[in-house]
Amino acid sequence: MIYSLFIQFYFIISTRFAPRKLDMGLKEEILRRRTFGIVSHPDAGKTTLTEKLLLFGGAIHVAGAVKSNKIKKGATSDFMEIERQRGISVATSVMGFEFNGYKVNILDTPGHQDFQEDTFRTLTAVDSVIIVVDAAKGVEPQTEKLMSVCRSRKTPVIVFVNKMDRPADDTFDLLDDIEKQLLIKVRPLSWPINNGPDFKGVYNIYDQNLSLFDPSITDIRKGISFSDIQSPELENYIGKDAAVLRDELEILSEVYPAFDIEQYLAGDLAPVFFGSALYNFGVKELLDTFVRIAPSPRAKKAEERLVMVEEETFTGFVFKIHANIDPNHRSRIAFVKICSGKFERNKNYRHIRLGKVFKYSSPTAFMADKKEVIDEAFPGDIIGIPDTGNFVIGDTLTEGEILHYKGIPSFSPEIFRYIENADPMKSKQLAKGVDQLMDEGVAQLFTSQLNGRKIIGTVGALQFEVIEYRLEHEYNAKCRWESLALYKACWIQGDDKAMLEDFKKRKYNKMSKDNHGRDVFMADSSFILDMAQRDFPALRFHFTSEF
Ligand code: G4P
Repeated sequence: MIYSLFIQFYFIISTRFAPRKLDMGLKEEILRRRTFGIVSHPDAGKTTLTEKLLLFGGAIHVAGAVKSNKIKKGATSDFMEIERQRGISVATSVMGFEFNGYKVNILDTPGHQDFQEDTFRTLTAVDSVIIVVDAAKGVEPQTEKLMSVCRSRKTPVIVFVNKMDRPADDTFDLLDDIEKQLLIKVRPLSWPINNGPDFKGVYNIYDQNLSLFDPSITDIRKGISFSDIQSPELENYIGKDAAVLRDELEILSEVYPAFDIEQYLAGDLAPVFFGSALYNFGVKELLDTFVRIAPSPRAKKAEERLVMVEEETFTGFVFKIHANIDPNHRSRIAFVKICSGKFERNKNYRHIRLGKVFKYSSPTAFMADKKEVIDEAFPGDIIGIPDTGNFVIGDTLTEGEILHYKGIPSFSPEIFRYIENADPMKSKQLAKGVDQLMDEGVAQLFTSQLNGRKIIGTVGALQFEVIEYRLEHEYNAKCRWESLALYKACWIQGDDKAMLEDFKKRKYNKMSKDNHGRDVFMADSSFILDMAQRDFPALRFHFTSEF
């Protein structure tokens, strides 16, 4: 105890009063890191693109190595499929590889919309995002939602228009559609020659280089490329399309201002690339340009202050927890994003929420399909820390300074059920299971003010199956659901204490507490919610848990 107090005291003193010199090695490590997420509407080609990027990075050697994390409807029931996926997704949660001197970390996101909260949380740990759009379908609803999260966080976004080997709209129209639907200015950095059966290649505007498409050649290095598209020789390969390409590039340079990297880094402009992930086309252009323009890790806001990434002392936060993958071992892995300084194995770090100091003897790094214990890691890296229940999503680790990283909100749930114990002998197991699943962020737990009953709220219906199945298989507990027709739960706040109390009294039977003891209003319908907002104008109704 005395030892631990001494260490904490030492940390506080050393962090506050002894600024250390910047380690150049650290700065270089930061500058070469690219940590990003690939997101898309299901089926646009996220898995295929990820796989091709890993192939280019030499992280895998054969196609098919990355298992789709899609939940496929069919022979197996959904939750069995989810269990299978959970096993896969631990391995593919983070895929790191080296490419041209850059350390690339791809963070995987679940495709199924019932798991979009997972995706939103993962987006808090990325420094940029690649959005995959299906050329034939254009921007789809889930893509719009994901874009709105990126927009609100000012995350730099690149758009990859995939499946150009299939018939698609005119390229200028496609760009207009993307701009309108995603509500962001776009700037093409590659340009396709036709699409569908006439698709002939992609011109890399950034590098001024043209690669010609041949579906029978999957190794891009063996394809034909031109560095000068004015060359008459181009006509020998693509005939009239050469002139069309030159014309289109000219129009393009009139329509779109020159690419401004600062606007991209500020989240105000999305560079667009075209290609066909399936045929490995346009992917190299994307990756080559991506590593050069995408941001390295940047400063991150904590409640207390802005933490600069090149500060020498380590800080990081937990954005994801994977639990009980192997039911025989109660193991969990907490995924920590390193925000500043160097993380070292077996060094003492302070777990801020618990106010305790721990050291971690087997932190792992993820390299595509394998993971290995590492001695050190740098900002932008994601490490997996084996955990026995000490972590919840959002926890901060530091070398001693009291910091709380912000930005892992829970969203207002939309589907609700009362959870009941179906086996009175197992009430302890049920309580523990529910607690741990909530720590993992599977769903949110509320307690009704009226009757003390426990309510589980989720954004997708599948979570109820997941909870029931996991409670039974991992905690040996049984639950029963009772449906509850509610529209939305929202967090209530107000500076006008009298009005807040009046609201809580009048809505007594619809008030609950969340897991942190905060007031939550469970609205029956959008009409009732609108009325409440109108009748109590001085109150604030929050639709995410972070305010
Ligand atoms: P997702 O992760 O975004 O959900 O998409 P995924 O990569 O799994 O791709 C969805 C489907 O689209 C797959 O076909 C995949 O082969 C196909 N696809 C991906 N990129 C391209 C492309 O550039 N061109 C064409 N023509 N198709 C593409 P599937 O039949 O659903 O799956 P599978 O049986 O091939 O795995």
